Amino acid sequence: MISGLRAWLRNERRLGVTHWTIQRAAAAADTDPVPSVETPIMASSVEPGGLPPLCDRELSESEAQAALAQLDETCVRGCERCGLHKHRTQTVFGVGKARPELVFVGEGPGADEDRKGIPFVGRAGQLLTRMIAAMGLTREQVYIANIVKCRPPGNRTPNEQEMSACSPYLFRQLAILRPRVIVALGRPASQTLLQTTTAIGRLRGEFHDFPPPGLAYLGLPAIKLMPTYHPAYLLRSPGEKAKTWEDLKQVMRLLGIPIPPRHA
Ligand code: URA
Ligand code: SF4
Repeated sequence: MISGLRAWLRNERRLGVTHWTIQRAAAAADTDPVPSVETPIMASSVEPGGLPPLCDRELSESEAQAALAQLDETCVRGCERCGLHKHRTQTVFGVGKARPELVFVGEGPGADEDRKGIPFVGRAGQLLTRMIAAMGLTREQVYIANIVKCRPPGNRTPNEQEMSACSPYLFRQLAILRPRVIVALGRPASQTLLQTTTAIGRLRGEFHDFPPPGLAYLGLPAIKLMPTYHPAYLLRSPGEKAKTWEDLKQVMRLLGIPIPPRHA
């Protein structure tokens, strides 16, 4: 346990994680109970090393903003945890309010996002922005991120290995953001966040608990997650837009956002 911690701290320093984090982690190590045999940690649920600790409390808006910037600058920007780093112009961390009620999670940056460093700014992004507006919200009132932070070549779907290398960053973002609801856009985001292989067409339309049992080790407070279709899919299949609107209306109801009469 202790030698594991030392190795982890060494890794932290190598990654340039600040002294503040190291001190906090060292202090926590003094008081952390040794995991008891009744609560085994599944090997598959333990994240690989070299990652900063998860934020373990609610932060204010400004604290959350600083914590997000630190995660981006010290860990994500120079990340080479998977092969996608070779193809990127820059990483695309996420944008929006640091303590939002609602977070949207997509798949990964496309060409426009890779160029600008901002998620959902291309054609699919413009549709997402309209969906957010239809909910009576602005992009500034929510947070928008992706499962992978680097553009997959040719906009292919990120593979399992890339998603499991990168999703710990998203989990750390979520631990800082602490929204009330997550909207997972499309199959990769929905399946990764819910740790399931169920098809998106069957997942969407109802709320799921996040974190799912497979991610309980993250120790995050329970919230609701709505899977829905990805805006890029809706551009190809506009006939499915009505279903996504039904999903978003459920999210609005949960958040107490009034639904315009013509949409009710
Ligand atoms: N599609 C995504 O999933 N994410 C983006 O940021 C842009 C397009
Ligand atoms: Fe790192 Fe994620 Fe980029 Fe892979 S996709 S190199 S894990 S930031």
